[in-house]
Amino acid sequence: MSTFFRKTILFGADLPVVKSFFTKYGMRLVAHRFVAHEQLSGACAKVAELNQRKLTSTLDFLGESVYEEKLAIDAADMVLRTFDSIANHQLKSNVSVKLTQLGLSISPELCLKLMRKIAAKAREHGNFVRIDMEDSPITQQTIDIYTTLRNEFGNAHVGLVLQSYLYRTEDDLRKLAPFKPNLRMVKGAYREPASVAYPRKADVDANYVKLVKAMLDQGCYAAVATHDVTIIDQVKAYAAARQIGRDRFEFQMLYGISTSLQQQLADEGYTVRVYTPFGEHWYPYFTRRLAERPANLLFVLKGMLRK
Ligand code: FDA
Repeated sequence: MSTFFRKTILFGADLPVVKSFFTKYGMRLVAHRFVAHEQLSGACAKVAELNQRKLTSTLDFLGESVYEEKLAIDAADMVLRTFDSIANHQLKSNVSVKLTQLGLSISPELCLKLMRKIAAKAREHGNFVRIDMEDSPITQQTIDIYTTLRNEFGNAHVGLVLQSYLYRTEDDLRKLAPFKPNLRMVKGAYREPASVAYPRKADVDANYVKLVKAMLDQGCYAAVATHDVTIIDQVKAYAAARQIGRDRFEFQMLYGISTSLQQQLADEGYTVRVYTPFGEHWYPYFTRRLAERPANLLFVLKGMLRK
């Protein structure tokens, strides 16, 4: 994926005409490849199928950039219900959330209040909530809210995501690692300027490997979230050479992407967690998936032509 391609797709997806077409027809035509279901019950059924194939999950109620308090409270309610459904159906799944869906852009206090309810619910069920990382203007606020919650609820119930495309991540990890946190490492999916993020993919990839090794060396629990086979092989070899147990890390991939690789790793005995998004607000998530890979555009075009 070239940075130019990714930025062009993310720009085009913001155009009103493109947005209105896809939000009207997209789920039926194409988005179902990346989005498990529009409803919680349907998504839980998909998680049950994953579990039967030895794959675990993290459910994500889609939504971001919420500017109305009521919508943030409604989203938090859905996250609470998601934890209850996981428990009721005895699913192997935790939950991922985005802070801008939970009111961060309205006020950090509102967001922290809602996140405390969510973390308390995770603890009540012996489960875990992970805070996704969004774009760089809110990286520090996200880390601050995570840190408050981790201090109150502990590593067993709250985790964070870091992005290897950001220059700052090495320093962030250096500060977080002494607390032995549960961290998901990703390359990063947003349109970021060269002033904050490596523009070259090779640098993003090299930083990714360096950061995951540092996480493993420093006793963090590492959620290695990538479909990059070269990186996955390097992590497997590194862990084996240093006798780092498989209970110290897991692989994570996105619903509908590299599914045979997901299965292969699970069959080899690694923990594999599938990020399983659901809900009606799937458009921004969907466009980030398109931007990651030129071939996905062909998939979209074929889906549209079939109609
Ligand atoms: P890379 O882009 O180099 O792709 C490697 C290979 O994977 C490709 O050659 C292709 O085969 C396959 N592949 C990758 N993306 C694909 C796609 N969309 N469709 C089809 N094939 C694809 N980002 C973020 O900024 N904040 C976050 O919180 C998260 N959370 C998150 C959770 C999980 C579980 C995953 C796997 C990813 C994220 N991401 C994320 C997204 C992440 O930043 C990144 O954009 C994608 O994972 C794609 O990068 P890869 O690491 O897969 O490598």
